[in-house]
Amino acid sequence: MRAGVVALRPIRVRDAGDWSRIRLRDQNHLERWEPTAPGPWADRNGFWSWPTQWLALRGLARRGQCLPFVITVDGDYAGQITVGNVIRASLRSAWIGYWVSSTAVGGGVATAAVALLVDHAFSAGGLHRIEATVRPENEPSIRVLTKAGFRQEGLFQRYLDVAGDWRDHLCFAITAEETGPGLAARLVRDGRAEYV
Ligand code: ACO
Repeated sequence: MRAGVVALRPIRVRDAGDWSRIRLRDQNHLERWEPTAPGPWADRNGFWSWPTQWLALRGLARRGQCLPFVITVDGDYAGQITVGNVIRASLRSAWIGYWVSSTAVGGGVATAAVALLVDHAFSAGGLHRIEATVRPENEPSIRVLTKAGFRQEGLFQRYLDVAGDWRDHLCFAITAEETGPGLAARLVRDGRAEYV
């Protein structure tokens, strides 16, 4: 399947409509992979939940602690991707997390988005290492990280409170030295994407 043109742009407060519509519809697709949070899904993902989340993410971004982006496909809102918990000084490390609308999966969207954001984080963002933790059952996400060039480093036991319980997570990582010409350029070289 050909996904379309994948791009990243900053999050906006006016994303509330798209964000909420997709997340309310996609509860079954998303909830089992996301951190446990108080309150029903419908409340946490309603239209008026977004401005609060947007403000929090924008505040972290302004302090250099987070790089939050919307994933677009052919200009339309298709998901979110975030580099978070940015630590500077001699660590220069962060985690990456993402989700893609159920109507846009299976075409390489998440892989392209990961490649674009990792390249940005290692260049303009000045980071050296990016980590991704994923449940062993989440085969599509493991495939995304493997295709993008992440290495599996180990298993964190009972690592994160996800979907109501402490879940084991595989740890994947990549450092700047491993990206060669860049992850996006590698996807193109390997025939998984093309420049437009
Ligand atoms: N078993 C094995 N592989 C699978 C399965 C499956 N059940 N379903 C899909 N895949 C493969 C696809 O075939 C594809 O691989 P291929 O290109 O070799 O054919 C790969 O998984 C998916 O790659 P993309 O198309 O780049 O990814 P997509 O745009 O479909 O998004 C994502 C994947 C983000 C995991 C999406 O399914 C999603 O949003 N899931 C719910 C939220 C989520 O799990 N987020 C990630 C949490 S972990 C983290 O953020 C580090």
